[in-house]
Order: sequence, then C-alpha cells, then structure tokens
Amino acid sequence: MDYTGKTVAIGCDHGGYELKLEIMKHLSERGIAYRDFGCDSTESVNYPIYAHAVCEAIQKGECVCGILCCGTGIGMSMAANKHDGIRAAVCTDTYSARLTRLHNDCNCLCLGGRVLGFGLALDIVDLYLDTDFSGGRHAERIAMLPKYGK
Ligand code: RB5
Repeated sequence: MDYTGKTVAIGCDHGGYELKLEIMKHLSERGIAYRDFGCDSTESVNYPIYAHAVCEAIQKGECVCGILCCGTGIGMSMAANKHDGIRAAVCTDTYSARLTRLHNDCNCLCLGGRVLGFGLALDIVDLYLDTDFSGGRHAERIAMLPKYGK
C-alpha cells in the first residue's frame, strides 16, 4: 500500500508502551504518518480504552489501519474485534503477519510487548504494512464474518 496522505492509528497499554515507542520511531524512519492514541507511560491502564480509540479512528476513515500493543496483544485484539469493520489479529511470527493481510485483510495488527523482541516486532509491522489483500475467494469469506459476530 502507498501510505502517502494516509495515517496509521497506534495505541497501547502499559504492557505495550515500550514496543509502541519503537514502532513509532520505525514509522517515522519509513516516512509513514501515524496518530498516537496513548497511553503515554508504563503506568497501569485499561487496554480497551486505547483499542476503542484506535478502532473508532479507523471506522471514521481518519486512519487507514491500526497497530495496538499490549502485554500479549490478546486483550487488544479482543477489544478491537468488537468493532464493526475491524479485523484485528495478534501476530507473533512473520508468516502470520503476511497472511493476515493477504487472506484476512487485517486492518488492526495487535502485538505483545512482553512476547516479542523489537527486531521481530518491526519485521511483523513491515509485512503487515507492505502486504496487500489478495481479494477473490477471501473477500467472500470476510463478507461472512459479521454474520457470526453477535
Ligand atoms: C496487562 O497486565 C496485560 O494484561 C495487558 O497488557 C494485555 O496483555 C492483555 O491482554
């Protein structure tokens, strides 16, 4: 995807704060604009607040996609997937990062700051940002997701 004129939403809780800082630095180095929805320190906070803020920005079209970091990525993904139109995925490996874009059209990557080293996390971020959805039969499957969502 060409990120010219587009903004990536990013958020975290205390467990993902340090990873979020690394990712923001990486996005800046790549020249990709982002909007940071907090939190702003390693002080304990409630992750759904930040997941909801990031997802709302995607739903409103203010941001093209999101990245959420918590301790494991799991709580953030659970919160994010409550939002219509959000397809959040926790990724701990590069194959999943590539496939969650190719097959699932993931628009909210969730990462565990207590699970991943920074090097692997940034490779996952790059694959997520740089892989396009393949469409076709996968679009049909994605269209079926909301039917089972509530
Ligand atoms: C916080 O301790 C931790 O529970 C949170 O960061 C996240 O991992 C939840 O899924």
